Amino acid sequence: MEKTFQKNILITGGAGFIGSHVVRLFVNKYPHYRIVNFDNLTYAGNLSNLKDIENKENYVFVKGDIVANDAVTNVFSQYNITDVIHLAAESHVDRSIEGPMAFVQTNVVGTVNLLQTAKNHWTDFTNHVFHHVSTDEVYGSLGNDGLFTETTAYDPRSPYSASKAASDHFVSAFFHTYGLPIKLSNCSNNYGSHHFPEKLIPLMIHNIVNKKPLPVYGKGENIRDWLWVEDHARAIDTIFHNGKLGESYNIGGLNEWKNIDLVKYLCRLLDKKLNRSEGESEQLITYVKDRSGHDLRYAIDASKLEKELGWKPSITFEEGLEKTVDWYLNNQDWINEVTSGDYQHYYKKMYNE
Ligand code: NAD
Ligand code: DAU
Repeated sequence: MEKTFQKNILITGGAGFIGSHVVRLFVNKYPHYRIVNFDNLTYAGNLSNLKDIENKENYVFVKGDIVANDAVTNVFSQYNITDVIHLAAESHVDRSIEGPMAFVQTNVVGTVNLLQTAKNHWTDFTNHVFHHVSTDEVYGSLGNDGLFTETTAYDPRSPYSASKAASDHFVSAFFHTYGLPIKLSNCSNNYGSHHFPEKLIPLMIHNIVNKKPLPVYGKGENIRDWLWVEDHARAIDTIFHNGKLGESYNIGGLNEWKNIDLVKYLCRLLDKKLNRSEGESEQLITYVKDRSGHDLRYAIDASKLEKELGWKPSITFEEGLEKTVDWYLNNQDWINEVTSGDYQHYYKKMYNE
């Protein structure tokens, strides 16, 4: 007889960077939940991110597109989905500047398709949660002072953040209009293992290792607020279980770094690890044309999550960066695998190689 589970949770985008950490945490921590990872494996999705848990009894992978109504309806029926943690998205700002339509399709249409399917499938809205994972970029850009709080007005400025803001609004609309039991979280920049090497930290590590130019946009003065990806996964666990329905929670580690300082820090760390002479990797820094509409600064006030739900980051940035760098040095096969497809094409186009 087939085992029954207390919850059947659909995690979308579970083969991506953050999604794979959320899937791993839930599969290992909650053997009484069945985790259904629904992902269409774009360039950013990679099943080898989940090799360590792929044979667990409470884990299932279903390849499918969140935009496709039939595929989403089928997965809800087949696994009697009780809850959703929605991470699937087009996630890279530079790609959204080159081609916004894919972001509208996946991030907006895909999200509404999931909301609509959950609304139709759940006969009543008790004991269900639809947790939408979003970004601090919906709040726009900060000047030198201040922090984003949950009440900061939305002011998205890139096609990516506009698509995420639109999806957040639809999630809230389904709560207010239909009473769908939603929760929303907005997180700052994540870093850690399995991060696709088009984003700043893994790209810089990859290029330092291979002695390739380190493309710093503009003067490198933009500021990002970095959070260890496993702390984000823990925050999602906390909000999914204990957050209030209809509310949003900011997630961040009060850890602001100027891009150029971060790139130099990585250069120094890798010079030591690779037995290079001091200052060698910094020679690779190349200032390139700035990102269009580049947001100056992001910084999150996560005090609501800390005070109401007791979450806090578990490690310092320096500890997390060292673990991250070690992971990349020890997982060259993963890097080779994920950089073999669309990556080469994209990278060449970006930097006119
Ligand atoms: P990612 O690009 O690494 O992974 C996205 C995953 O979604 C991939 O596995 C991809 O195959 C899948 N996917 C894309 N389109 C799909 C579709 N149409 N149907 C099914 N699956 C699809 O992204 P990430 O960095 O892990 O981000 C995950 C989520 O967290 C996103 O919603 C993003 O907006 C949000 N977020 C990311 C960060 C960050 O720093 N990376 C910070 C805050 C919030
Ligand atoms: O804040 C959360 C967001 O963080 C998430 O919602 C996005 O999905 C995620 O991609 C990330 O967006 P950013 O645009 O902040 O991340 P990215 O790694 O692309 O860039 C970080 C900073 O580094 C940004 O100021 C641009 C700069 N940069 C980036 C790249 C890729 C460079 O200077 N050079 C580069 O080559």
